[in-house]
Amino acid sequence: MKLYQSKILGTGAYLPKRILNNKDLEAMVETSDEWIMERSGIRERRIADTKNGEELTDLGKNAAEMAIQNAGIDRNTIDMILFATLTQDQPLPNAATTLQSKLGITNNCAALDVDAACSGYIYALTLANALIQTGQMKTILVVGGEVLSPLVNWKDRTTCILFGDGVGAMVLSQAPEGDESRILASHLAADGAGKDLLYIKAGGTTTPVTEEIIPTGEQYIQMKGRDIFKLATRAMAENSRIVLEQAGLQKPELDWLIPHQANIRIIETVAKFLEMDMNKVIVTIEKYGNNSSATIPIAFHEAVTDGRIKRGQTIMLAAFGAGITSGSMAIRY
Ligand code: UT7
Repeated sequence: MKLYQSKILGTGAYLPKRILNNKDLEAMVETSDEWIMERSGIRERRIADTKNGEELTDLGKNAAEMAIQNAGIDRNTIDMILFATLTQDQPLPNAATTLQSKLGITNNCAALDVDAACSGYIYALTLANALIQTGQMKTILVVGGEVLSPLVNWKDRTTCILFGDGVGAMVLSQAPEGDESRILASHLAADGAGKDLLYIKAGGTTTPVTEEIIPTGEQYIQMKGRDIFKLATRAMAENSRIVLEQAGLQKPELDWLIPHQANIRIIETVAKFLEMDMNKVIVTIEKYGNNSSATIPIAFHEAVTDGRIKRGQTIMLAAFGAGITSGSMAIRY
């Protein structure tokens, strides 16, 4: 069977306007700018105003329109929208169909959400690549984004300092014959034994959010940060090792690392494993914190836009998230 290759045609990103910085958090919980910077590398994060035009799919529309414009395509040539997210506007319908409608796409393209928490974007890109490789689809809009702030307990200093909102997007399309740009390899993994390390208990079908639940705080994100830290660094290193092997690449051949932005110390550990200087790592965590499936596409877009990432370069993506899910991907841009 003939296999096609997929190419990133264009990227986009959109961040909510409101900035919440560490000084603001000092007034909300017992913490300090110094502690947050030293332990996580985060200085500020963005918070979406969902009641005033900043629903997840509004942010998604802005990011996607930028990606579509940068790709130079007609939006009605998109065969599918894949939306990596764990924070849909509402439980039903999915975010991808709402986004299709907000984008004014009228070609009845397929529309699917992908939930693998913070690894969601690499999962979605891997699925998109497989559909393009086999010739089932030619052009896929891959969006990754979250509005996490309503799911954060703003009284819990162990989690509220970490998370933020935002969306990134890419248009992935069948590469012309002979084009060097392609996804070189990817590896996805999950270790469900870690499902109780990062979770939201209420809000699903087992425990709906009722009046009795609200005072318990079970509708918010809960996390065992130190345990996740260890599993995350191990999974990101192992997946990246597998991807290098699959792609036939040596560590020095990597031009850039774009890791999930959860903690600067996790990022530094993965960079060290890949023997990459920090000036070869795209870091956005200081400005945006952890916006889950949005971190990688936003960082990718920023580095393409400011000229750091250039065509022909080789990039490693690496992520991990609740579940514990994880994934790495090597791309020739
Ligand atoms: O996308 C996946 C999302 N999750 C993650 O990636 C989480 C990965 N883990 C982490 O990023 C880190 O574990 C944290 C940044 C969450 C925490 O850093 P840590 O170095 O692992 O701190 P810790 O949890 O071991 O806490 C150390 C101390 C504790 O006090 P005691 O018990 O030593 O007296 C905490 O109570 O720091 C205290 N602490 C804080 N102090 C000031 C916890 N949160 C705060 C805070 N401000 N916000």
